[in-house]
Amino acid sequence: MKKVITYGTYDVLHHGHIRLLERAKALGDYLIVGVTSDDFDKTRGKINVQQSLMERIEAVRAIGIADEVIVEEYEGQKIDDIRKYEVDIFTVGSDWVGKFDYLNEFCEVVYLPRTEGVSSSEIRDTSRKCSLGIIYEKHVYSKIIEECKYVNGMELKGFCVDHISDDIRKEYSDFYLTEKEEDLLEKVEAVYIGVNPERRAEYTERAIKAGKHVLCEAPIAIDDKVCADLFELAEEKGVVLMTGIKTAYSTAYNRILLMARDGRIGDIVSIDTVCTSLSDPYYGDEEKQQNNWNSIYSWGPIALLPIFQILGHEYKNKSIVSRFMDEGKKYDAFTKIDFVYDRAVASVLVGKGIKSEGSLTICGTKGYIYVPAPWWKTDYFEARYENSDSTRKYFYQLDGEGIRYELVAFVRAISSGNDSFYINRGTSVAISKIMKDFTERKDFTEIGV
Ligand code: CTP
Repeated sequence: MKKVITYGTYDVLHHGHIRLLERAKALGDYLIVGVTSDDFDKTRGKINVQQSLMERIEAVRAIGIADEVIVEEYEGQKIDDIRKYEVDIFTVGSDWVGKFDYLNEFCEVVYLPRTEGVSSSEIRDTSRKCSLGIIYEKHVYSKIIEECKYVNGMELKGFCVDHISDDIRKEYSDFYLTEKEEDLLEKVEAVYIGVNPERRAEYTERAIKAGKHVLCEAPIAIDDKVCADLFELAEEKGVVLMTGIKTAYSTAYNRILLMARDGRIGDIVSIDTVCTSLSDPYYGDEEKQQNNWNSIYSWGPIALLPIFQILGHEYKNKSIVSRFMDEGKKYDAFTKIDFVYDRAVASVLVGKGIKSEGSLTICGTKGYIYVPAPWWKTDYFEARYENSDSTRKYFYQLDGEGIRYELVAFVRAISSGNDSFYINRGTSVAISKIMKDFTERKDFTEIGV
């Protein structure tokens, strides 16, 4: 049997793809199609793929030409695949002539003439872009400007900030700037909300009521009921409400979740997450601190994320311990939370007034996953076992701290209507519940200074 293999992105599948697959199949008896994974497309400098990996795989399967569909995930995989599947012919379109000659060493390489006049890029360029506005209170969220450039299907229109100084006006003259939230809401279809956690729910509610899609930094609310109501409201209004935690959208983090769930390190019995930073200059100064966020609001959602996503939200009990920096007891220097589940335990340590190793450890009955600091923006992790020779190291590309992947996910959620793909509502609500319990001092112990 003659085996043929071909690779491609197959975004917004078109007749050029189908003709290529038909001719590839005709070269032999069995066709394997490698669909390229979602990662940053270096050759074009853009994340320009409109459909998710799953959608693209489904589309290739649905046309029924391929005998097998696989995912292309890493540099050098083609050689591995050719060996593994005992491939006789490697083929791609003529736009790649010469690029894969090195594979001649392993099998026959055939370049098939490309179909004229159609490409995924052209189809994508003519599709509509969603306009985005950013709402931050004290400053312009400048990092996002760069990241938006990488995201197809989204156009950054403007910003809303409490006070537009001359400096801001000068620096961001290319964008629409306003101090009035309602003015921005009128101009855009979607908003990114990154205001003080105590006010996020109000902003989110107004944006949803105005019919806008919302990507809101977590915690969306500091009350679980409010958070759940906002999701319901979004559903009623037919808009997307997505939880913003950059980490959740990075490739490495998603691979960690998959590995933790697929049993490779056995049953999960303990998860420890640590997130600290000593960068807050006003820490401990109550007056200046007014518009700054305490440790649990700043770091809690990130630190809780892997615990809730791996062990779920149904813990049996929890205990919260904090140490405060201010008289008003609003700004926790650090907070430690311990959870007990039926078959596992977990702990979170967050702080803006302490320093520790910001690592993530997921411990199982066969081995453990170790993610070194800062784990929340990681491109690397290890699976470790009793026998240190079995340790595996995993590297993934992380661009723009994950912001661009988050924006890509937002655009996709808007076009598909599914906003729960990365962080589901239950997780978001469970995060808000912890914020509430901290605020109301439930299951809580304070330690002195
Ligand atoms: N292909 C083709 N004719 C076209 C477009 C693509 O034969 N008009 C072939 C490519 O050469 C490749 C396969 O289809 O072997 C998958 O191509 P892919 O890169 O996914 O599609 P493009 O339309 O080329 O995408 P883009 O515009 O992003 O480059």
